[in-house]
Amino acid sequence: LENISLFKRALGDTTDIVQKQMFVFKQGDDDLVLRPEATASIARAYLENNLGFGFKLRKLFYIGPMFRAERPQKGRLRQFHHIGVEAIGLTNPNVDIELIELADRLLREFGISNYRFTMNSLGCLKDKAKFADLLKDSLSKHKKDLCADCQRRMAKNIFRVLDCKNKRCREITDSLKIGQSYLCADCKAYFDKVRAGLDKFGINYQVKDKLVRGLDYYSGVVFEITHPALGSQDALGAGGRYDYLFRELANKEIGAVGFAFGGERLILAISQKPKVRKPDAYVISLGDKATDKGLEIVRDLRISGISCDFDYSDGSLKSKLNEANKLGVKFAIIIGDDEINKGKLAVKFMQESRQEEVGFNNIVDFIKASLNNN
Ligand code: HAM
Repeated sequence: LENISLFKRALGDTTDIVQKQMFVFKQGDDDLVLRPEATASIARAYLENNLGFGFKLRKLFYIGPMFRAERPQKGRLRQFHHIGVEAIGLTNPNVDIELIELADRLLREFGISNYRFTMNSLGCLKDKAKFADLLKDSLSKHKKDLCADCQRRMAKNIFRVLDCKNKRCREITDSLKIGQSYLCADCKAYFDKVRAGLDKFGINYQVKDKLVRGLDYYSGVVFEITHPALGSQDALGAGGRYDYLFRELANKEIGAVGFAFGGERLILAISQKPKVRKPDAYVISLGDKATDKGLEIVRDLRISGISCDFDYSDGSLKSKLNEANKLGVKFAIIIGDDEINKGKLAVKFMQESRQEEVGFNNIVDFIKASLNNN
C-alpha cells in the first residue's frame, strides 16, 4: 500500500495507471492504493531510508505483486508480479548498457528467445519539451480526427496520446514521422554511446521513434521488450531512465535507471518445458537398521552437494530398483542386513549392468568421483 499522492507525482496525473487503473482505499486527505508498480515506491524508500548513503551507485532488485484495475485477459492480470531492478545514483551511459545487458542475459537464461528490444531517447527535460512541441505541431492538423480523450490529452499531456488504444488515433500517431531531432548534442551523444555499447555486446534492438512509455517519470533512454507469441499483451518488460523523479519527489538531483519484467508474461514466453532435475543417487534400504544408516548416507551425500533421494516404500528390492529406474538416477545405493554386517554398501550403476561394493566411509567420495568420471 502506498499513498495515492506518490503515484500522482511520480507517474503523472494524466497517465492511464493513475486515471483508471488503481485500486483505491478512501482515507483522509491522501487515499491509499495497492501499488501499480514499484519504481515510485523504491524511490520513496530510497529517500526515506537514505539508501544512497555511502554509495555512488545503489543497485536494487525486487520481485513482488503489483495491482492494476485493468480488464483481465491473456497476459493481463489485476494482480501480477514484477521482477525489477533499479540502479540509483548515477547518470552514465555505461550503467544503462550494463542494465540492458542484464535484461537481455536474464531473458536468455530463462530460455526465452525471439524477443524484440525497442529503444528510444526522450532526452533531458528541455528535449522532452521540444519533443512535446513537435508532437503537438504534427498532431494539430489531425486534431478533429482524434478521440475526445486524445483531444483533451493534447492540451494536458501530449505524450499520452501515444498510449491511446483507439484504432483511428493509433493510425494517426503511427503515421507521424518524428525521429530524434529534438535531442540536444549531449543527449544524442549519450544515446549513441548506449547504442554502441549494445552493439558491442551483440544485443539486437530497434530504435523506435514515439516510444515514450506510459509513465511520466521517464527521461533519456527508454526501452521495451516484446515477444511475438504473446498476442495483444506482448510486452515482456520495459524500463528506462528517470533522472528527474527524485527532483519531483524531493528536489534532489539523483540519476537512476531501471526495468521490470512481468513475471507471468515471462512464463507464457518460455518455450521449453522447465527441466526437471533428476537426483543422481537413490538410497534403498531393507530393514530398520539399514534405514537408519540409509538416512545418514542421504544426509551426507546432500551435505556434499550430491542430489539424492530415499526410498520410503515397504516394497521388495525389485520394486525399489524399478522406482530408481523410473526416476532416472545414475546410482542406486543398496543397504540390507548383509551390507550392515560387512560395513559396505552395494552401489548399482543404473545405466550399466555393474555393481560395486563400497565402504560406509567412502561412499561420498566414491559417488563424487564416479559423477566426475561420467
Ligand atoms: P510497465 O511497462 O508498466 O513498467 O510494466 C512492466 C511490465 O509489467 C510490462 O512490460 C508487463 O510485462 C508487465 N505488466 C504490466 N501490467 C501488467 C498486467 N496488468 N498484467 C500482467 N503483466 C503486466 C513499470 O511498471 C516500470 N516500473 C518499469 C521500470 C522499472 N522502469 C524503471 N524501472
